[in-house]
Amino acid sequence: MEVAFLVSSQTLRFGSKKSIKSIVGGQERMDVLSRCFLNLQRWKDKINANLSLIIFLSHPDEQLAITIPHTSSQNKMEDEADSTRFLLNILSEGQESAIKIEKNSFEALLKSMTDNYRFYYLTPDGLDIDEIENKVNERGMCFILGSQYDIMPNQEKTLIDFNIIPISLGKQNYLASHVITIVCYKLCSFNSSSKDE
Ligand SMILES: C[S@@+](CC[C@H](N)C(=O)[O-])C[C@H]1O[C@@H](n2cnc3c(N)ncnc32)[C@H](O)[C@@H]1O
Repeated sequence: MEVAFLVSSQTLRFGSKKSIKSIVGGQERMDVLSRCFLNLQRWKDKINANLSLIIFLSHPDEQLAITIPHTSSQNKMEDEADSTRFLLNILSEGQESAIKIEKNSFEALLKSMTDNYRFYYLTPDGLDIDEIENKVNERGMCFILGSQYDIMPNQEKTLIDFNIIPISLGKQNYLASHVITIVCYKLCSFNSSSKDE
């Protein structure tokens, strides 16, 4: 099964000059994406799915989707510095053939994924995540979430057109990287409870 996390950032820019030091200082809040990537990497060998991170740059001058599949970054990510270095290379040079970088509107991106994924929008106001347990394994799953901010209102409107299922981890407001960890944990527990039956 394919499992993708689509994180939308209004502040991250492609090709702007950045360094580890400036990122630690909060430039474009790339640190949020570094933590998302690091946390997802940690589930690579624990979850029975092909994981990928899709970073959507929603700044009006960007409208760019960067898809990083599980097959990239074979090297072990030990810490946030490793994941920051890895993302920094992609954002400055775009290298590595497994990584897809496409200029695309948010809507066009979702359209291109509809055949392979069912979409879930992470929001504290959605359905309890446990309610999707029986839908796991049907087809690929794409979880959409904001980064340091929620996704933009026009993106939320687009989601309605795609019949997205809003799901919640409770009323507490979590960091994006924590949301990824909790969803992966839930997917693992759904998987093991279906094996027990
Ligand atoms: C750090 S939060 C975004 C900013 C935050 N909502 C605020 O008030 O400033 C990152 C994203 O994680 C997701 N999220 C956070 N808490 C959640 C929860 N309890 N249930 C589902 N998704 C959640 C949402 O998609 C949110 O946009």
